[in-house]
Amino acid sequence: MRVLDQVQAIPTAPGRVPLLGHGLAMARRKHEFLRGLSAHGNLVRLYLGREVAYYVHGPELLRQMLVTDSRKVGKGWVYDRLRSFVGQGLVTSEGPLHTLQRRLVQPAFRSARISSYMEVMGELTNTLADSWQPGQRVAVDDAMAELSGTVVARCLCSSSSMSPEKARRLAFLNTAVLKVMSVRSLMPEGLWERLPLPSTKRSNAHVAEFHRIIDDLIAQYRADRSDHHDLMSALMTARDEDTGEVMTDEQVHNEITTLFVAGIETTSAALSGALYELARNPDVERRVVAEVTEVLGDRTPALEDISRLDYTRRFLREVLRRYGIWFLMRRANEDIAWQDWRIPAGTTLLFSPHALHHDPALYPDPERIDPDRWLPETLSRGAFLPFSTGPRGCIGESFAWAELTVVLANLVRRWHLRLAPGANVQQVASSSVHPVPLPMIVEERVRT
Ligand code: HEM
Repeated sequence: MRVLDQVQAIPTAPGRVPLLGHGLAMARRKHEFLRGLSAHGNLVRLYLGREVAYYVHGPELLRQMLVTDSRKVGKGWVYDRLRSFVGQGLVTSEGPLHTLQRRLVQPAFRSARISSYMEVMGELTNTLADSWQPGQRVAVDDAMAELSGTVVARCLCSSSSMSPEKARRLAFLNTAVLKVMSVRSLMPEGLWERLPLPSTKRSNAHVAEFHRIIDDLIAQYRADRSDHHDLMSALMTARDEDTGEVMTDEQVHNEITTLFVAGIETTSAALSGALYELARNPDVERRVVAEVTEVLGDRTPALEDISRLDYTRRFLREVLRRYGIWFLMRRANEDIAWQDWRIPAGTTLLFSPHALHHDPALYPDPERIDPDRWLPETLSRGAFLPFSTGPRGCIGESFAWAELTVVLANLVRRWHLRLAPGANVQQVASSSVHPVPLPMIVEERVRT
């Protein structure tokens, strides 16, 4: 059979329109559009404008792409666009540069470092919890975005160089830039920069200010030379064991920007999702609060507590399943054979952790939060991929687990959050699916 015939055997998704292909449906309906595709098979053809792309679904095929054939796939054009902000950092780099950077950045996420980040996470969460008053209405989605941003900023730089105002400013700038990037990455390349709009100027000023702050921090750390036991010190002192190579300042800068881009929105979506789902599922909330109180008392969780908080961990798995990244991209670097299909080199490949996690064949009644669905754990490998997997899987996974556990434990122990009357919460996808807007009323938790 000729390659072309086999490619044609792949079903095309419904809803294609002239010129735009499926781009419009995808831009409008985002995660909902992708969730509908598995009904057509595990490999479905899409048209992004005129470009052919394949949607890849199902545990076996995803593991094949992300693990077995990881060398045959690169990252795709969405990441090419992101490079204008993050440069060649871990998320955007490929090949030998990525392998080297991954080795150099890894020590910043070792257990001993995560333990000290957890203290920072605990302090910042307690500051937020202290600032709330009984009966107060809180925009929880905004509060979680700011908290996740300041967590990354303060774990990155624990020295006095990072004032609380600077941490908040970096978090704000990162969110503002990413909002614009998500629109910009869907436009023809270079168009955004040429548009004489006030928002273009504002966004360029945000990008410049963000980079300036990072450059200043690097210069201060280089001058000071001491190990602050934070992410920045870890990046600046990292040395390749084989070659003795260290990162240039430019590389450190790119990796710092990358950690902001990769580590904030994902975590803040999960934190908002967790607080929203507790409010909607009182029985689950009761069990989480009981476990947190019994295992921790008034302590901030330490690394070893994460595995002891068995129910809370299963609840957070459900949250990661429901509030995940809605799509990620790859590109076939060479011709690839999967089962009976042939994917030509250069083809764009899309996959969706969110859609995978809502496939009723894998997760019956997928909208329901049911921590006990993970008892016993019978899922096939590749069915739960909130952090992706393989050599491009999330390097911040243990950081994320630490943060979700600390923030949740320290907030719910003190506060019961209920949805504000009239709240109209929607599932909105930016890079992750968030529950927004999320106005909630905080009530002091009565200890029994
Ligand atoms: C709930 C929170 C998080 C989720 C769901 C998540 C998910 C993911 C996923 C799915 C990927 C793969 C992306 C791709 O294939 O393009 C990824 C990569 C990455 N994540 Fe996370 N992430 C989270 C938190 C974090 C945090 C807190 C950090 C850092 C502080 C981080 C840093 C990174 C980096 C640097 C990469 C690129 C790794 C590489 O390509 O070598 N993530 N993350």
